[in-house]
Amino acid sequence: MTRMMKLAALMHTGGQHIAAWRHPEAHADAGFNFDHFQELARIAEGAKFDFLFVADTMGVRDWPISVLSRCAQTTLTAEPLTLMAALSAVTKRIGFVVTASTTYSHPYTVARQMASLDVISRGRAAWNVVTSTQHNEAANFGLAGAIDHSERYKRAGEFVEAVKGLWGSVEEGVYLGDKESGILFNPNKIHEYHHEGDYFTIDGILNVPPSTQGRPVIVQAGASGPGRDLAASIAEVIFAQTPTIEFAKEYYSDVKGRVSANGRDPRKVILMPGFTPVIGKTPEEAQRQIDELDAKIDPEVGLVILSDMLGGVNLSAYPLDGPLPDIEDSVKSKTMLAMIKGVADRDNMSIRQVATWVAGSMSHNRVVGTAEDIADTMQHWFENGACDGFLISPLVYPGRLQQFAEEVIPILQQRKLFRSDYEGETLRENLMA
Ligand SMILES: Cc1cc2nc3c(=O)[nH]c(=O)nc-3n(C[C@H](O)[C@H](O)[C@H](O)COP(=O)(O)O)c2cc1C
Repeated sequence: MTRMMKLAALMHTGGQHIAAWRHPEAHADAGFNFDHFQELARIAEGAKFDFLFVADTMGVRDWPISVLSRCAQTTLTAEPLTLMAALSAVTKRIGFVVTASTTYSHPYTVARQMASLDVISRGRAAWNVVTSTQHNEAANFGLAGAIDHSERYKRAGEFVEAVKGLWGSVEEGVYLGDKESGILFNPNKIHEYHHEGDYFTIDGILNVPPSTQGRPVIVQAGASGPGRDLAASIAEVIFAQTPTIEFAKEYYSDVKGRVSANGRDPRKVILMPGFTPVIGKTPEEAQRQIDELDAKIDPEVGLVILSDMLGGVNLSAYPLDGPLPDIEDSVKSKTMLAMIKGVADRDNMSIRQVATWVAGSMSHNRVVGTAEDIADTMQHWFENGACDGFLISPLVYPGRLQQFAEEVIPILQQRKLFRSDYEGETLRENLMA
């Protein structure tokens, strides 16, 4: 069978652009408006997307309240597990990726919640494993500050091992429901799980049966060395933030290499970078959509987001219309700095312009053009070792998702790059088809 790309919707509130919620087509209350989410689910399932995903932090982001109050993406949003459980009741085939933190939760809780969503949705659940970076998240759970990066990843590795162990404590076929004999389940299919590690001690049995896909799909989005290693050892789907094809190819070959080094089949691990299609009848018309939204970005918002993406670096001492300074020493994420600087240098951008681009794209790949242009770029990335699919995040929801579904999906289907119907019943069956 020919290799086909996987597609998912990254449902940022309002849209991928930080000012999207102010667009006339957007629902300003999208983060907690269930009708809005149902509409996105209907469009994405109609387009045969693999899954829906909302990014999540366990609290508001570490931005000043003056900035948070101007952004829809991270504050006043429904908790994703609850949201996806509700969406699973009004959909049939699309999957759900739910973010759960390995730093501020316990393996038993996550194993049970994710297994429950998997059962309720009839095998359409996935867990996005995150380690949580925000100080506000730490404060919400009684800590003085965010935990050190390497410590977070050590805990994450043990956390995932424990969750998988708990999922394995109840075997497929456990349920009998034999009213005649009075035996509800087969006790031989249940095994106590014992775990004793650096972070957790667990002696237990999960009290949720396996779903039709066995256990939830695991997703991860590591960018650093330890992050990539964790993704390569546990994830079936890996998200990436790669604004150019050069970065995407580097990430793709590096991570697939790490997957092989872990003794896993790299073809069974799906790499999906974020992707914002900006579609117009002409490229100029498409570009106007960005310009209109860019004009609505509050300058403070742009700078705070840029500084946050660079790991909290203070840019206030540098002229806004000058270039991004050499700030390597003060930056936490060297990968992110290299990516942002790479785009800034390529397009000769000032700090003000970089801030606008970052706030308008969240440093994901943004392609501007006609529907054919968008399909061409997607095909080029897919066929040239840059990805296995895309996390589609239109500038503005819901209208621009509908436009992508109506104008780009048929081109991809015609080129035999994307399915015309779901191959299977469960998320894993569709992802691995
Ligand atoms: C597409 C995408 C989605 C992500 N979603 C979340 C999320 O929902 N919550 C979160 O705390 N981090 C999220 N992250 C951050 C990653 O989990 C990870 O921390 C980040 O890529 C930096 O990599 P590192 O942890 O290896 O340094 C996401 C990253 C990407 C690329």
